[in-house]
Formats: sequence, C-alpha cells, structure tokens
Amino acid sequence: MQISFAALEMPVSGAVALLVEKDKPLAGLAAEADSKTGGALSKAMSASRFDGSAGQTLDIVAPNGLSVDRILLVGLGTAADKNTQDWTEVGAAVVAALLGSGSAAVTVLAEAGADAVAMAEGALLRSYRFDKYRTKEPESKKPTLKAVTFATDSKDAEKAFAPRKAVVDGVFFTRDLVSEPANILHPESFADRIGELKDLGVEVEVLGEKEMAELGMGSLLGVGQGSIRESKLAIMVWNGGNKGDAPISFVGKGVTFDTGGISLKPGEGMEQMKWDMGGAGTVVGLMKALAGRKAKVNVVAVVGLVENMPDGNAQRPGDVVTSMSGQTIEILNTDAEGRLVLADALWYTQDRFKPKTMIDLATLTGAIIITLGHEHAGIFTDNEEIATQLSKAGLDTGDKVWRLPLHKNYDKMIDCPTADMKNIGGRAAGSITAAQFLRRFTNDVPWCHIDIAGTVWSEKDLPLSEKGGTGYGVRLLDRFVADNYEG
Ligand code: BES
Ligand code: MN
Ligand code: ZN
Repeated sequence: MQISFAALEMPVSGAVALLVEKDKPLAGLAAEADSKTGGALSKAMSASRFDGSAGQTLDIVAPNGLSVDRILLVGLGTAADKNTQDWTEVGAAVVAALLGSGSAAVTVLAEAGADAVAMAEGALLRSYRFDKYRTKEPESKKPTLKAVTFATDSKDAEKAFAPRKAVVDGVFFTRDLVSEPANILHPESFADRIGELKDLGVEVEVLGEKEMAELGMGSLLGVGQGSIRESKLAIMVWNGGNKGDAPISFVGKGVTFDTGGISLKPGEGMEQMKWDMGGAGTVVGLMKALAGRKAKVNVVAVVGLVENMPDGNAQRPGDVVTSMSGQTIEILNTDAEGRLVLADALWYTQDRFKPKTMIDLATLTGAIIITLGHEHAGIFTDNEEIATQLSKAGLDTGDKVWRLPLHKNYDKMIDCPTADMKNIGGRAAGSITAAQFLRRFTNDVPWCHIDIAGTVWSEKDLPLSEKGGTGYGVRLLDRFVADNYEG
C-alpha cells in the first residue's frame, strides 16, 4: 500500500473518505460535499443506520455533482475524546472498507483535530495480506486499493510518519514469519531470515548445536533432538545508544513447530502450532522496527529456534537434562517445551550481556487463552515499574496486557524429588507455574515474561489486521522502549 500526504482539499478523482462526528451536523468539507451533491450525504445517512458512531462506515458510490467516484463516510464518535490509538483504528477502518471495493485510491480528508499520522499508520497496518501461496485467486477477489493519501494542513506529517512506517515494517516482518508454514520456516531458514536485519545495521550471530552443547544448553537442545533440523540460537545486537550503556534485552520462544514431541498433541488444531515461534517472531520484528527508526538505545535480542518432533531420537518423559545455569530439570511432559528453550536463552542473555532488563515473549501456555482469551497478553513480573510501563504502552498501542501473580507458593509447585525442578506444575495455575519456571533462569535480573499464546494469531479480522498473524507485541514494545529507555 502506498501512503502519502497532500494539502487539505477535496480530491478531483478516486475515492474520498470524510470523517463524521456522532450526532453533529456535517461540517467543513463534508458539509460542502453534501451541498455539491444535492444533499446526497445527509440523505444516505438518514436512509441508513449511519450516525457517525466510532467504527461505522457508509459507502456512497458515484455521487452526482462531484468528480470523485465514491464517498466513504467514516464515523468518529466524539473527535475530542480520541487518543492516538483510536485515530490509528480510524485509518485502518478506511482501508478495511475499501480494500476490495473496486477503488484503487482514496484520499482521507484529515480536517482539524484529526491525527493524520496515526491514521496513516493504521491504514498501512490494515493493508497487510499474506497471500504468497495463493496462485489461483481470481482477480475479482484480489484487493483493489493501492494508495491512500491523507489530506492535511499539518506540514510535518510526512516526516513524523517515517519512524511509524519503520515500526509497521517490523510488524509486517513478524506477521510474515508467523504466517509461514513450518516446512518453509524451520530453525535454519528462520535464522537465515534474521540475517536480513544486517542490512539495517543490526549485528547478527547464530549459534548451532555444537556451540550450544559447549555452552551446556542441555535444556534447549533436548527439545530439538527429535528434529532433523538443527536447533539454533540467534543473537541480535542494536547499538543505537551511548557506548558502554548496559542494554535492554528481549528473549523469544521460537518453536517453529510444536507437535508436543513424545507427549504428542491431539491432531485437531495441531496446524496452529506453526505459530509457536511467535515470541521469536515478535522479538525479531521489534529489532527491525527499532533499527529501522534508528532508536537511540542499546538492545540485544536472543531467540531460541527449535522444532519439537517425536522421533527415535526424541526426548522422553522422565528424562533429566542439565541447563546452562547448572540447574537440572526432569521432563515430565515433552509438550511443555517452550520453557525449556527459554531457560537456556534467558540464562545465556543475562550471563553474556548483563542487561538492565530482560523481557521474554512466548506462546507458552494454552492456559493463558483460558484466562484472558484473545484480548490481553499475560504479563508476569516482580518489578512494579516494568508492569506499569507495559500496561501503559499496552493501552497506548492497543496491544493490551494484564498482570498475573508470581508467588513462592506457585514456585514450590515445580519442585521435584528427582531433579532441581520438573517442567510442569499440574493443571492448576498453568500459566503461572510456567512463569515461575522461567523466573528460576533469570538470575534476579529485572525481568518480565509475556505469554502471547492468545494474541499472536486471530481467527477473525481485527481493527488493525486480517484473520491470521497479528504482529502483536511489536508496537507494544516499540512504545515501551521509546517511552522509557530512549533520550
Ligand atoms: N505451544 C504450547 C502452548 C499453546 C497452546 C500455544 C495452544 C498456543 C495455543 C506449549 O508448548 C504447550 O504445549 N503448553 C502446554 C503445557 C502443558 C503440557 C503443561 C499446554 O499449554 O497445554
Ligand atoms: Mn508444547
Ligand atoms: Zn509450544
């Protein structure tokens, strides 16, 4: 989708989108358009249920009296109440309404009070489609909209949009990775895709099984040992801040396919486990966003890339592995594999980089979907500041989070007689005991775990994305970094 900015005036061709407030008479250019079309807009409004409520659109094709070929009325609710994220959703609503409408170009009239830059971000976000494997889609089903212009009086909209565009590029990278099937995106090809970040100035390093064995990463390696694909650990470094400043760090679960291993998952719905690399996908998209907008901060990112397969060489229930931290783990369920990958990735990150903070992202538990559905990701931290900062960034970006508890009594639930801990805590509090497990590998560095199992993928269209990979977390963490660690 091509996004551009222009002076605030009625376009002469293509479609035009007019923003309409709830329960207010048409004003400005919308009132002008209404009179030029002989009252077609007010007539269409009273003939339909469109009243300017937020989220509503009304499509008026081929209006008389204007040279544009269609008018899209877009409901705002009360403009004065809208925050940046609301404006982002307005921009997205224009694209959602017109994507397959037959129109190729639309001009959005961003009159006084409208946030053209936020709308542009939303428009671009909503235009994403993963259709690379659809070779026979008829032309009549393909999107027609190619260009959105925001007509605004603001002089610096284009300049202000550049960093937002970089963040959207990061979101798209995450959506691409999450959408790829597991025969295409496996640990080796995932590591190759991460190599693309070098073009933006990110340092990328990839460890293979031999190097990880030398580091003692028995926990991560056990998960991948039934796969014909070599497990990888990818390390990304972005030095945009002051030389010598301790970095902030992000760690991601990158299980490129989770069959459950020998504790095999049921067949139904197993295809969803192609997006069990969503934590790593988000971390990688975030690095693309931060490097793309040249964020003034030092960041490291580490992702553990493995495939969890049943096989003659696969790990068994009852196996005991030794993690890089030295702690031993009894594997009671090979399907609780994400925490095993993160255990070594977290320990490695704090040991090598001595970061200020460590945030991990993972599609860790089905239980988080039972708790929070698909609205909020679950956050787990002992650090009040990080919890507050993430909650705020969540409200500001629409990538919402909700805090769940950690407590020593939950921690006890993973103690075990055979080893230092077991990898499952039982059915009760499944997301929390998983978080307690991770906590044992943080070495008390300020840390937060984000369980994104419910938010990585959507079975329905959302305000900012079609059914499919959502890119959840990139904009959340970009904002978290911008608000708390830059400048
Ligand atoms: N990748 C899954 C969690 C998951 C489930 C993500 C459904 C998205 C949708 C994870 O590896 C897993 O299998 N967790 C188990 C843990 C259990 C064995 C303790 C689960 O949630 O059932
Ligand atoms: Mn699993
Ligand atoms: Zn998993």
